[in-house]
Amino acid sequence: MTTALTHSPVWQELLGHDDTEHAGALLGADPGRVERYCLHHEDLRVDLSRHPVTDSTWERLLRLAEERGVPGRIEALFSGASVNESEGRPALHTALRSRPDASIHVDGEDVIPAVYEELQRMAAFVEALRSGDVRGYDGRPLRHVVNIGIGGSEAGVTMAHQALADGDEPLRLHTVSGVDGRELAAVWGRIDPAETLFCVASKSFSTLETLTNARTAWAWLEAEAGRPVPEQFVGISANESAMADFGIPAERRFRIWEWVGGRYSLPSTMGLPLAAVIGMERFNELRRGMRAMDEHFRSAPAAQNIPLLLGLLGVWQISLRGATGHVVLPYHPGLRRLPAYLQQLDMESLGKSVTRDGQPVDYPTGTSCWGEVGINGQHSFFQWLHQGTGRVIAEFLVPVEEGGLPERHAGLNLASALGQVQALCQGQAPQGSGPEAEHHRYEGGRPVTLILFRRLDAYTLGRLLALHEHRVFVQASLWGINPFDQWGVELGKRVAKGLAPVARGEAPPPAEADAATRQALRWAGCWGA
Ligand code: F6P
Repeated sequence: MTTALTHSPVWQELLGHDDTEHAGALLGADPGRVERYCLHHEDLRVDLSRHPVTDSTWERLLRLAEERGVPGRIEALFSGASVNESEGRPALHTALRSRPDASIHVDGEDVIPAVYEELQRMAAFVEALRSGDVRGYDGRPLRHVVNIGIGGSEAGVTMAHQALADGDEPLRLHTVSGVDGRELAAVWGRIDPAETLFCVASKSFSTLETLTNARTAWAWLEAEAGRPVPEQFVGISANESAMADFGIPAERRFRIWEWVGGRYSLPSTMGLPLAAVIGMERFNELRRGMRAMDEHFRSAPAAQNIPLLLGLLGVWQISLRGATGHVVLPYHPGLRRLPAYLQQLDMESLGKSVTRDGQPVDYPTGTSCWGEVGINGQHSFFQWLHQGTGRVIAEFLVPVEEGGLPERHAGLNLASALGQVQALCQGQAPQGSGPEAEHHRYEGGRPVTLILFRRLDAYTLGRLLALHEHRVFVQASLWGINPFDQWGVELGKRVAKGLAPVARGEAPPPAEADAATRQALRWAGCWGA
C-alpha cells in the first residue's frame, strides 16, 4: 500500500528528478545563485546555496508544499485548531508569545487573556525575587534558583541561560534533571538553604525524576530550616491539583496549559527560572524574537519563507536523497546546549512511523539530530562529515559580531566556520595519482545550511528557536505525521514506573517484565537472591 505522499504526482516527479549535480559546481556555474538562494529575516541570513537543489527542484518542492496542504496546516496551527490529533487538542505555543491584543479561541474561550494574566503574575514574582523582596526562612533575600525538571521542563531554561546570562546577575541558576541523586547532592554544596528557591517544573507534575528530586529537596530544606518551607517552592505545571497536593502554596503555583507541548514551553511560565536570572525584559525580548519569526512564517511568501524552505529541504534530503541526520553546529560557546535542545524538538516531534490517520509511512521521516559547538566538532567528528560515507545535513550557526574580543582572536571564529562550510561543499580533487592521492580526495557536495546572524542576544535566540519549531512543523506536515505527541516516550515512562519497586528490592518483577529485564534485575541483586 502506498501513502498519499508517495502517491502524489509531484513526489513522483521529485523521485525521477535528476539531482546529481554537485552544489560546488552549481555555485561555480551560476553567478546569481548565492543571492537567489539566500533568505533574510532582518539581520538573519540563511544561505541555502550549498544544497544540491536547482530552480526546478525548488519549483517542485514548493508545489509539494501546496499539494500537501502546508499553508492550511499553518493556519490551523496559529488559529488554535486541533492539530495534535492523537491527543485531541491544539498546539498553541505561538499563543504564548503572541501580541496581548490577539485573540485565539480554544473550546470557545479566548486563551490570550489567561496567557497574559499568568505572565503578569510571573513578572511580579520575578521582579520581587530580583529586588530581594522574596525572602528565605531566616529573612535573607533569595540568591539561588534551582530548577527541578527534565526534558521540555529543563532543556530550554538551561540552554537559554547559558546563551544569555553573563554571570553578573543577582540570582544564580542551578538545574537538576537526573534521578540518581548525585546532581542534587552536588547542588547542596553550592547553595545556602535559606537563600534558595526551588522551581518544580513539570507539565504533568507526575514525572518520576522530577517528583523524586522535588521530594528530596523538600525534605532537605525542612531538615535545614527545622520546619517545612513551602514558601521557598514554586510549581510550574498544567496540573494544578498535583501542585497543591505536593504542598506548593497557591500564590507560588504558575500555570501552563495542556495545549502547550513540553518541548515548546520555554516562552510560558516554564521560563520563570530563566527570567528570574536574566530579568523579565530580556525574557520578553526572547518572546518577541519568537513572535517575529511566527509572523514571518505565517505571512512571508512561500519562496522567501525560511522555515518553510528549510522544512522542504529537510524532507528532500531525508526522504529523497538519503540523509540520515541533522547536525547542529553553533559557533558560539553560549550555544553549547542548543544541539541538545533542538534534538528533543526534532526527534521527539519527528520520530514517528505512522501518519496522522494511523497509516504506516512508506518513506523515511525524522532522522537523528545531534551536534556540538562547531569549533570543538572540527577537532572530533568533522573528519566523518568531510570524508565519511554517511550523509547528514550540517547546519552552521555563526555570529559575525564578536564584540570586545582580544585582537589575537578577532575573525578566527568566522573564518573557521566559513572554511569548513566551503570545504564541505567544494571538496578537493586528488593531488597527483595512485592510491596515496586518493586519501586526499574530498568529494565535497555535503549538504550545508549556513545561518549567519549579527550577535547572540535574546531576540535572535528567540527567532532561531521559533525558526526550528516551524521547520519541524513543516516537515511533519509534508510527511503527514503528528509532531506534538510522544507515545513512545510515554510507554517507556510507564514501564519504568512498574519496575521501580523491583529495582528498589521491594517487589518481584511484574508480569509485563520480559525475560531479559528479569535477568538484568536479578543480576543487579534486586530480587531472587
Ligand atoms: O521526555 C519525555 C517527556 O514526556 C517530554 O515530552 C517532556 O518534556 C518531559 O517528559 C517532562 O515531562 P513533564 O514536564 O510532564 O515533567
